[in-house]
Amino acid sequence: MEVNPFRYSGPVSSEDLIGRDVETEQLQRTAEEGNNSRLVAPRRYGKTSLLRRLTSEVREDGWEAVYVDFFGVVTLADVAQRIDRAYVRDLSGPVARWYDGLRRTLSSVNLGAGPVRAGVQLAAGTTALQDRLDLPRRVHAKHGRRVLVVFDEFQGVLTAQNDADALIRAEIQHHGEAASYVFAGSHVGMMRELFGDRRRAFYAQARELALPPLSDGPTAAFLTARFSASGRDVGTALGPLLDVAAGHPQRTILLAHALWEQTPRAGTADEATLADAVARTLSQLLSEFQGLWSSLTSGQRRVLVRVAENTDALYAVGTHGRGGSVGTALAALVDRGEVVADTSTRTGHRIVDPLLALWLRNGRPQAWPESE
Ligand SMILES: Nc1ncnc2c1ncn2[C@@H]1O[C@H](COP(=O)(O)OP(=O)(O)OP(=O)(O)O)[C@@H](O)[C@H]1O
Ligand SMILES: [Mg+2]
Repeated sequence: MEVNPFRYSGPVSSEDLIGRDVETEQLQRTAEEGNNSRLVAPRRYGKTSLLRRLTSEVREDGWEAVYVDFFGVVTLADVAQRIDRAYVRDLSGPVARWYDGLRRTLSSVNLGAGPVRAGVQLAAGTTALQDRLDLPRRVHAKHGRRVLVVFDEFQGVLTAQNDADALIRAEIQHHGEAASYVFAGSHVGMMRELFGDRRRAFYAQARELALPPLSDGPTAAFLTARFSASGRDVGTALGPLLDVAAGHPQRTILLAHALWEQTPRAGTADEATLADAVARTLSQLLSEFQGLWSSLTSGQRRVLVRVAENTDALYAVGTHGRGGSVGTALAALVDRGEVVADTSTRTGHRIVDPLLALWLRNGRPQAWPESE
């Protein structure tokens, strides 16, 4: 039995990545120069997949690379623990064995059972974190190897403590030769606050790299090859699929997965097959869209629909422009990563997820009809 060749959830490996050569190269070059980068893109745009490719490429050049995910951390001790686990998982050979011994001597990230006063807990978390943040310097001093440290979902550290960024910067700013950092995050607003606000520790400390939508050429080549290697032909469904997915990486793969499933074995897909695949995909996404919808204020809902419909400008003559209620709702949607600026549209914005836009334009149905 042939297996569906499209993986639409979780980070994917280098062979599954469409494009992203330019971005990988830029991140690598910036790290080699001893500078830091930040990768900001909406959810499911392929940040983690790209970071995986980056870590494997720098390892080939003789670096150590450590990938830390801060999603869901709630205390500084959690932050320290995530870093510790990443070193355990990602180091190899003599450096890994050295770390295995060293970590027993570092201050503990587990405060053990029993009640601990809040102040004590906080101080212990801070020391544990400082010890882990200092690791690249020690790796470099002991083994002469540079370390690429990736902090994914970096905005999560603000949940642990609202000045955690200051604490982190204070430690890592002395790493110079020893380490380069890549900070990534999917909460566009929080990442902007961390790196774009003069009052914050990381202001202007990392070169920004945005992830654009996928280009049609490489996507078409990838989909065609994957279909034919698994005994099916993407046929005339290809063009309309690229149109519906509009370069959104995860939506492209999700639709390709559904299209492949709808295409008979050894058969060829066409526009009707795609219509079927789109209907099925939207049905699967309804609860996600309804969840998003119910989390929005009524002002945000109205703006979201107007951006999706794209029939006229967002600010009518005589309204208060950016400072008014439309401006506030729009800013919140941009911060959440649901909407991005796009000068080619009438509203000057577009919905990040093309399937959400389709649902919004079609009257937000509670059920999506199967196509005939
Ligand atoms: N360049 C790409 N080529 C092919 N597929 C991609 C690409 N980028 C992302 N994808 C698809 O998107 C999915 C999610 O990718 P990934 O987890 O790397 O994104 P992310 O931006 O880290 O998401 P999240 O915001 O959820 O952390 C993958 O499973 C894959 O199907
Ligand atoms: Mg990710």
